[in-house]
Amino acid sequence: MVDIVLLFLTLAGQVRAKFTCKSDGHFGDENDCTKFYHCANGRAMGGFCPAGLLWNQATQQCDWPSMTDCDFTIEKAKQLQVESPTILYLTFDDGPNLGTTELLDALKAHNIRATFFINDDNLEITEKRNETQVLENANNLVRIVAEGHMVADHSYDHMKHNSDGPKDAYQDISNDISYFGPRNAAPALYLLKKAGFEEATINFVNYTLNYFVRMPYSNNWRVGLDNGRAISADCLECTVPASSSRKAVKIADVLAKEYGVQVFGWDMEWSMNFNTNRIKYGGTPMFMRLGTGAHSKQKGKIVLLCHDIAFRPHEITGSLSAQEELLEFLDLAKNAGYQFKTLDTYYMDEPQTQSV
Ligand SMILES: *[C@@H]1O[C@H](CO)[C@@H](O)[C@H](O)[C@H]1NC(C)=O
Ligand SMILES: *[C@@H]1O[C@H](CO)[C@@H](O)[C@H](O)[C@H]1NC(C)=O
Ligand SMILES: [Zn+2]
Repeated sequence: MVDIVLLFLTLAGQVRAKFTCKSDGHFGDENDCTKFYHCANGRAMGGFCPAGLLWNQATQQCDWPSMTDCDFTIEKAKQLQVESPTILYLTFDDGPNLGTTELLDALKAHNIRATFFINDDNLEITEKRNETQVLENANNLVRIVAEGHMVADHSYDHMKHNSDGPKDAYQDISNDISYFGPRNAAPALYLLKKAGFEEATINFVNYTLNYFVRMPYSNNWRVGLDNGRAISADCLECTVPASSSRKAVKIADVLAKEYGVQVFGWDMEWSMNFNTNRIKYGGTPMFMRLGTGAHSKQKGKIVLLCHDIAFRPHEITGSLSAQEELLEFLDLAKNAGYQFKTLDTYYMDEPQTQSV
């Protein structure tokens, strides 16, 4: 076990973290047993324990859950109730693609509506995307709308015209901006018209696809700028290199100020390993991490970032599939009293005290 753990610790994708180092070594996160920090020369790098393992405070390493004093057991989780009224905005990025079918089935089973930040190049056949996949993606876009979810804009191609990853994702503001809005909306609207949706539905999708954006790679917020409770925030260190991130900030400004777009980042993330496209921990730990949105952009509201592709069929903990992990998460969150909404009403929403 120790060997495996040490190997994982060195391999885990570590990012610079906000953690005060008292000495060098490895330390768990007080509020989150899935997380740990590696301190060296006073600097902290944060990482997650591999899927299925949690931080053991006693031995200071990732370990089997039964060996830790962490409360992430399904029995404990089932008894938890959210402490104050909290709205959960589930958002799924980069689809429709692999995993969207499984994800839609899970949401349908719980009758929960979510927001999908889509890239319409998923409807295009390329070397990486065959006709079968494209047809499934198109079918799923129809399902997303038919099943009452919200579709929003994540740019036509996820900035792939510049770069395959976050590095240099943004290069030319006036060119990059043309990949948002009408360019991303047109293929979706064409498809939905062909599928026979009513004009009112098409118009609503046209509205949400043009006025609700999430920037690929970059956590930027421009919400309600014409109002007293405006949210404007950027996370420069969220994109590498920072020059790319600085351009994302400028694009978010133009979208908000010139086009009246609401730009949504995220408060929390169901973290995923982007090399393997797997979630880093299961549904119960994700649920245990949620909290009440005290540190969110707006109190009592949590915008949770997830990715469709993480829920494609594959084993993550040896016993549950990723879809089963999602079902478990939805079940726990619903049972705990979280309210679910889509981002089109974010600004007006007020968390409701529910009558029991
Ligand atoms: C098409 O792509 C999917 C997803 O990558 C793959 O599972 C499937 O085998 C491919 N089908 C054909 C006919 O090549
Ligand atoms: C979408 O809305 C824009 C105006 O915001 C309009 O110009 C365009 O024709 C609409 N597209 C469709 C397909 O309805
Ligand atoms: Zn994305």
